[in-house]
Amino acid sequence: FLKVCRRSDPKLNECVMSSVEGLRSHLATGIPEFGIPSCEPLQIKQLVFNQGHGAVTLTSTYTDIKVYGPTEFRLDTVRIDLDKKSVRIKLWLPHLRMTSHYKIDGRVLIMPISGRGYNEGNYTDIDATCSVQGEHITIGGNTHYSVKSFDVKFSVGDARLYLGDLFNGDRELGDAMNLFLNENWKNIATELQPLLEVKIGQLFKEFSNKIYHKFTLEQLLPP
Ligand SMILES: *[C@@H]1O[C@H](CO)[C@@H](O)[C@H](O)[C@H]1NC(C)=O
Repeated sequence: FLKVCRRSDPKLNECVMSSVEGLRSHLATGIPEFGIPSCEPLQIKQLVFNQGHGAVTLTSTYTDIKVYGPTEFRLDTVRIDLDKKSVRIKLWLPHLRMTSHYKIDGRVLIMPISGRGYNEGNYTDIDATCSVQGEHITIGGNTHYSVKSFDVKFSVGDARLYLGDLFNGDRELGDAMNLFLNENWKNIATELQPLLEVKIGQLFKEFSNKIYHKFTLEQLLPP
């Protein structure tokens, strides 16, 4: 399922680009042999935000998170630095839809907010940069590539948010708050995005290493 590229390939970046392209359908279905679950939707058990200061002071918990659309990425650039063992990938996503069950309590830009229920968000025109730093490790006497850090940075073009059953299901207050959240989503995203980036980076580090630790460097990147 993985297209192998040669280290000496003068078009190594392009080769790896088409290798990642070839992974797309496998990411959608998941790769059970490697314990990689389906990424369509990508599932995250729980995210807990504790924002103590700044524009958003709140405790919020999101459980049973499903992210639809991650495999519809368009690869823009892939840059491999063999000496530094690093990879930098720029990609674009037309649309991500996220659903979860939320619990929230606190303040958003001085407005009090509380509730629990169904949460949905649509995010469009997303630019993402993944910076992967690797190292060589030895497993059973063989050299393997291993991801040390997988940094993800997003830039979202537009967002539409919905929190159901805010304020114990008070319809009027809930509608007003949803309107307010959508008008101010940029401020809110700035506060909450870093943790999401960390979490997604961790997931993809885990997935990558499941492949890298199974195949030797020699197999994945022969001379
Ligand atoms: C998100 O998009 C879906 C369809 O793509 C739509 O049914 C849903 O109402 C949208 N949700 C929000 C919060 O805009």
